[in-house]
Amino acid sequence: KDAYAVIGNPIAHSKSPLIHEIFAKQTQQAIHYGRIYSELDDFKKTTQEFFERGGKGLNVTIPFKLQAYELAQHKTPRAQSAQAANMLWVDNGQLWCDNSDGEGLTRDLRRLLKQRSGAALSGINVLILGAGGAAQGVIEPLMGAGVASITVFNRTHEKAEALVKQFTGLATKAKVHLKALPLSELKNGSYDLIINATATGLSNESPIAKDILRAIIHPDTLAYDMVYGKETCFMLDAKALGIQAVDGLGMLVEQAALAFETWRQLDLEKTPLDINGAITTV
Ligand code: ATR
Repeated sequence: KDAYAVIGNPIAHSKSPLIHEIFAKQTQQAIHYGRIYSELDDFKKTTQEFFERGGKGLNVTIPFKLQAYELAQHKTPRAQSAQAANMLWVDNGQLWCDNSDGEGLTRDLRRLLKQRSGAALSGINVLILGAGGAAQGVIEPLMGAGVASITVFNRTHEKAEALVKQFTGLATKAKVHLKALPLSELKNGSYDLIINATATGLSNESPIAKDILRAIIHPDTLAYDMVYGKETCFMLDAKALGIQAVDGLGMLVEQAALAFETWRQLDLEKTPLDINGAITTV
């Protein structure tokens, strides 16, 4: 059986093995998909050992996405844009990396918006909370999906400004209004989608005060937290204010589907993956 695994620290909680098992079953493929724990300093050694033993592909999770990107000799454009990788594999003796997180997010958002109102991702106004690695990975995919505007708010405003600066050229080309705003300048009632890309999902804090959240949403705003597996403060606040709030489970399943498709070279016309089925099973 071809061997795959997810590598991270911690890793015991990872749902990736289950998701890949579901896809393997759906497409009648025999693969082995494991979990690999790596010490923080051993990432390079651990991955080398995996591939030397004949491993076919690795999914990379926190905190190794940056190291995976740096380690690879070949980087796909979308990995370069995110400056981080969530997939590693060897081709002709060379290490490749890719990043399917951003496209996983846009696919999940399209599915969610379509399910609830037939609304599209194109043309909407997006607010991203946070300016770290997670935020960096989603800006270009959102621009590619044709959103009208992206506003970045971060606790440390300078970091939001620096992040926006990196994508200014691309935003102009894509005709997307991209800007960093401090809290006091967020626009009342104007964001259709608010993505929590801060690390607060893990620490039980709110990325934005509830009163401010109340002011900047409208009844159809979708609140999306990129973490999965629990109701974050951000999600609880959003729900208390009466808007729909979801976690990042769909994004996790979608990024896994993209990896599975790449590695198994599936003809998706003939064998489409059942994403909704996977989401309800995990
Ligand atoms: P990741 O790769 O997960 O994005 P990161 O690069 O360390 O992690 O970025 C963490 C993000 O969460 C940053 O935007 C950070 O804000 P600062 O730049 O001001 O540090 C944000 N963050 C972390 N804890 C936060 C908190 N308690 N409130 C608001 N933002 C927080």
